[in-house]
Amino acid sequence: MGKFVGSLDCGTTSVRFLIFDQNANVVAQHQLEFPQYYLHPGWHDHDPSEIREYSNRCIEEAIKTLEANGWAKESVKVIGITNQRETTVAWHRTTGNPLCNAIVWDDSRTKNVVTHFQHKMETVGLQVEPGVWKKGEEGVETLRQTTGLPLSTYFSAIKLRWMIDHIPEVSEAHESDQLLFGTVESWLFYNLVGDTQKARHICEVSNASRTLLMNITALKWEPFLVDFFGLRPSILPKIVSTSEVYGHIASGPLKGVPIGGLVGDQQGALVGNLCLREGEAKCTYGTGAFLLFCTGNEIVKSTHGLLSTVAYQAGPNVPPVYALEGSISTAGSAIKWLRDSMQLIKSAADVNALAAKEPTTGGVYFVTAFSGLLAPYWDPAAAGLLIGIGVSQYTNPSHIARATLEANAFQTRAVIESMKLDSETDLQHLKVDGGMTNGDLAMSILSDLGGFSVIRPTMRESTALGSALLAGSAINLFGWDIRKPETLSEVNRTGTREFRPEMDNAERERRWGLWQRAVERCRGWDD
Ligand code: G3P
Repeated sequence: MGKFVGSLDCGTTSVRFLIFDQNANVVAQHQLEFPQYYLHPGWHDHDPSEIREYSNRCIEEAIKTLEANGWAKESVKVIGITNQRETTVAWHRTTGNPLCNAIVWDDSRTKNVVTHFQHKMETVGLQVEPGVWKKGEEGVETLRQTTGLPLSTYFSAIKLRWMIDHIPEVSEAHESDQLLFGTVESWLFYNLVGDTQKARHICEVSNASRTLLMNITALKWEPFLVDFFGLRPSILPKIVSTSEVYGHIASGPLKGVPIGGLVGDQQGALVGNLCLREGEAKCTYGTGAFLLFCTGNEIVKSTHGLLSTVAYQAGPNVPPVYALEGSISTAGSAIKWLRDSMQLIKSAADVNALAAKEPTTGGVYFVTAFSGLLAPYWDPAAAGLLIGIGVSQYTNPSHIARATLEANAFQTRAVIESMKLDSETDLQHLKVDGGMTNGDLAMSILSDLGGFSVIRPTMRESTALGSALLAGSAINLFGWDIRKPETLSEVNRTGTREFRPEMDNAERERRWGLWQRAVERCRGWDD
């Protein structure tokens, strides 16, 4: 009988369950897209029950494939869960039922909640100790020092506050201590272990570091922040490490299998790319794009618009590893927009062929600020902008497709410029993964406009692999130990392809200058 490790990867648009062998070969998998709800402009909802059902179905179908391939389901020794981060779920303590839709990370309905807390920061501030208040700039800086984050629609506390203020069921449950708050891994774990387990309301530390509620040095909920956002401490889950056995699956084909890893998907991809040492970086191009730069056990506090975040904690009593992160809200979602709303392409992969029909964008720049801009600009009022239409020739769909790929490259460069300033390190190469990296043209454009080498592994399921490595490590499967990177050196050695910059430096800088001007023009557009 073989030995395998499973990984449940619940992203923004799809769920999948992958089963890996000890060399990171995928022996069985199943993937399902799940419904997205855009009920009003700027809103993005998921139904937590659907997240649960689609996850269960993926596990069932992948196990059927495993068995069809001649393996027993008992050969899956442990599973990990990795998830879209910040997406906020509220459910009922007694019934276990969701109280409303989940608010997805890129939802921007909460702009007014951010404005409210900015005002509160100016006028009241944070009570860091009895009688000691930090307000205005000092308050913002205290928030950043404590959580690594700015006030933004992106993070969970803001979304949770909106739910409590706008949805009577959530507000009543909060008042009567019946509310449970969680991020997506928290919700999935709660359901997978069922009521077989007492400590089922947990939140993994890399996910907790995206809530605006956790002290990233102490790895604990910070009482003065819980208080600032007007939340009751009883609604918060217990914070747990990234790699340990938290519980066992209660039912279904994997009944009794331990859950040994929980991790935010971007941190999962950092681990899956084996960027475990200080100075190593990866960027995952999914719905959004997320560049994480490992800073080891040190928290590097950004002064250039990046986030400080927990990368992972290799066990309950182990010091955490941190990362600097540049989060870009729109990457693959812009391609989806070209496909679904503009109908310029039939499938996302076609964007490369369409863009390849023109050698340049014909002077077009596309700032894909569909839900404002995140790092390093942090402007919720920035609006999507296409500029330069028809400057040198009549703009056609290929120019727009190419400008969409270029937007991705420029936003990545913007993050890397900040990262250089914060970490005083010049990035020579960037490891990449995620759906958009399948396109060779997209990768050449990234390298040309970014001015660095892009390294793309053959096996690009890095997010799922990261959670599998963390889960395997928790039970010492295959001798993996996340604290000792050398124990993972044989994993995923299936090869890489490198894209080197070929663009002339002066041309790169000229285009970068124009992109920066386009960004300036799209900012502060609050209609
Ligand atoms: O912070 C949001 C991020 O975790 C979403 O990732 O891969 O679903 O775009 P993805």
